[in-house]
Amino acid sequence: MFSLPLRDDAVLRPLESWHAEEFAAHMDRAREHIRPWVGPGFVTADVEGAQGTLVRYGRRQAEDGGRLFGIWRDGTLVGGVMFTGFDAAWGTCELGCWLEPAGEGHGLVTEACTVLLDWALVERGLHRAEWHCRADNDRSGAVAERLGMTLEGVRREAWPYDGARHDKQIWGILAAEWHARRA
Ligand SMILES: CC(C)(COP(=O)(O)OP(=O)(O)OC[C@H]1O[C@@H](n2cnc3c(N)ncnc32)[C@H](O)[C@@H]1OP(=O)(O)O)[C@@H](O)C(=O)NCCC(=O)NCCS
Repeated sequence: MFSLPLRDDAVLRPLESWHAEEFAAHMDRAREHIRPWVGPGFVTADVEGAQGTLVRYGRRQAEDGGRLFGIWRDGTLVGGVMFTGFDAAWGTCELGCWLEPAGEGHGLVTEACTVLLDWALVERGLHRAEWHCRADNDRSGAVAERLGMTLEGVRREAWPYDGARHDKQIWGILAAEWHARRA
């Protein structure tokens, strides 16, 4: 399988249904770390659940919709990035990300998202990319900021978790802004 070097010892690769066992083992390391911050459907319990996520993204990729990519560091799957939404007709997409604890603090997600933004906003010619996160997810907001995104607004109490409702931030970057950053 092809892979794209990110930095040092890390690579970005498509994360596909044949990775189900590896993805499930990674989810065992990541589950409690990511649970408060990602959609509940992404937090799976076993190989069957992991397979379900991978197949769902595979179908969406076939329709030029969502896409899922894993980040391997020293040969271990430590997290990934995705297009949670991709709409060529509307010229918009939304990125997402997650890491297990060992993957944090190395700049891997910022680097991987740069690859996705180049592809979406340069190669595919989309007009804008979005980033949605819980307003109290400081590490996620910091990624959006490092990518040059603008905090465009807050959807109040839009994120239910564990019996409470949290505000959700919407960050965005326009193609022209991305081109200027990359020039
Ligand atoms: C959100 C999340 C992916 C961010 O991970 P992260 O490691 O902080 O983000 P990056 O990969 O961009 O790395 C940035 C960190 O690496 C450090 N770093 C090291 N080398 C770096 C480099 N060359 N470039 C950028 N950052 C670098 C930065 O200093 C920063 O660490 P710090 O915040 O401790 O100072 C992670 O916290 C996570 O998975 N959280 C749980 C799930 C989640 O929130 N998902 C997002 C839902 S919206």
